[in-house]
Order: sequence, then structure tokens, then C-alpha cells
Amino acid sequence: MKIRKAVLPVAGKGTRFLPATKVVPKELFPIVDKPVIQYLVEEAVLSGIEEVIFVIAPDKELIRGHFSPDNELEQLLDKKGKQALLEKVKPIHDLAKFTYVYQNEPLGDGHAILQAEEAVNGEPFVVLFGDDIVKHNVPAAQQLMNHFNGESILAVERIPKEKSSLYGMIQPGDQADRLCEVLDMIEKPDPDESPSDLGIIGKYICPPEIFQALKKAPQGKDGEIRLIDGFNELKSSQKIWAVEIEGERFDTGNPEGLTAANNAYLR
Ligand code: UTP
Repeated sequence: MKIRKAVLPVAGKGTRFLPATKVVPKELFPIVDKPVIQYLVEEAVLSGIEEVIFVIAPDKELIRGHFSPDNELEQLLDKKGKQALLEKVKPIHDLAKFTYVYQNEPLGDGHAILQAEEAVNGEPFVVLFGDDIVKHNVPAAQQLMNHFNGESILAVERIPKEKSSLYGMIQPGDQADRLCEVLDMIEKPDPDESPSDLGIIGKYICPPEIFQALKKAPQGKDGEIRLIDGFNELKSSQKIWAVEIEGERFDTGNPEGLTAANNAYLR
């Protein structure tokens, strides 16, 4: 079954990047000359996605601006004969169909996905978090889609043992061709209690049943609903799969990760 829609939740507060994120969303920080969010949209489009559904916060309208036509700028570049720049700017608003839904309060990534239920309209969809960029000739979303059989898929990568307490870690079944069944998921375990070295990163394929699962999922201590809790809920009625992603991943949601991404893309 073809996946046509991608949901990009970008309504978080970006606290790991304060004070830079006080006004400017971290998704608009540049990797070389393009904002992080454009890399994600290009990843989705190169993987065959036709509609990108952004979940934005009311104070993150700048993201919408980046994907809207700017006639004044385009006319100015044209008038000045800056064709090369015009060719960089113009195609952005035609990359895909863009839809915007709002999350008015940052109540978790799962709560953000719930706001997209109507726009998703009963189809399976890809979720790309606003900060995980993977550099590889096969887009990461495509790598997930290559294994899609109607059930959920999580992107995972090998995590150094001491960092397992920063990730959701999975207990995998047998792995073949980078695919395995997810037998269990443990949120941020102590390194000695992690069931494997496979940690979940911010790319997923969700079946439409994820919305019911998210509605049943328990709220965390902080009142947040997490997407991972939706998968935990779904696990009792459907299999969950994991694909070990190929490529170099950058968490651009913190200064070190964004700097590393800039160095890698400049090379
Ligand atoms: P992150 O935890 O990486 O982003 O959420 P954050 O909350 O913005 O950043 P920190 O941790 O405070 O530094 C993963 C993705 O989910 C989105 C974020 O925008 C990011 O793309 N998100 C998170 C929401 O859309 N809403 C939320 O309530 C929380």
C-alpha cells in the first residue's frame, strides 16, 4: 500500500537550544544554506510523499512562511538576473501539498500527532520529527517504506551503551535485512537494563489505528502524550516492526548535533 502523507510535528519548544529558540523555531536553523525542515520535506518528497501535514504551534508561523510563495523576493531576484538563487527559492512551495494543523499547547509529540487525525483521514502515514536528519543516498523515510506491510514501523539505530538512558530502546526479535519485530520498548533505561543497543529515532510509519491507541495511551507524569506510548498501546493488537536505518544521523535539536550536521553537509 502506498504511503502518500507525512506528518511533521514541529510544535515543540526546543528548550535544548535556548536562547536561540526563544523566537526562531529550531526547525528553521540552517544546515549550510537550507533550514533543517526543508531537508525533512525533501526526504519525504524523495520517498514519494505527496502531502506534508505540519503540526505547528501558533507562535511558529515562520515555518509556514518558508513553504509559501514569496512573490516579491522572486520578482526581485528575477529582475536582478539572479537566476541561480531564484531556482533555489522558487521550487520550495511546489515541493508537495502543504497542510497546517495546530497544537496550541506543547502536550507531547503524541498529542501533536493526534491533532493531524482529520488531515490524515484514515490512511497510513509517515511521521518525521523536526530534528532527526539522516545523510544517505536512500532517504530514511524510503528505507522504512521499503518494509511497509500495513503495520507500524519504527526507525532505530545502534546506540552506544552509555547513551541508552537518552532513548527509547527496543527488545528486538530476529533481525533480517535490517528489519526486526519489536517485542518490547523501554523508555530511557539505565545502560545495564537496556534490552539491546537499538534505540528509536524520530522517524516512523503509523497505521491509522495509531490515533485510537494514542487516545487510550496514559499521559506521562508531565501530562504529555508520547507517540511511543501509542505504539505500546497498539502492540497488544498489531505487530510493531523496526528498521535499522542506514546513514549518518544528526540530532539537530541541540547545538552539537546541528554543528556536526553543518560540518558533514559542507564536506
Ligand atoms: P523534541 O523533544 O525533540 O522537541 O520533540 P522539543 O520538545 O521541541 O525540544 P526540547 O526537547 O524542548 O529541546 C520531537 C518532535 O516533536 C515535536 C517537536 O517539535 C519535535 O519535532 N513536538 C514535541 C511537538 O510538536 N509537540 C510537543 O508537544 C512536543
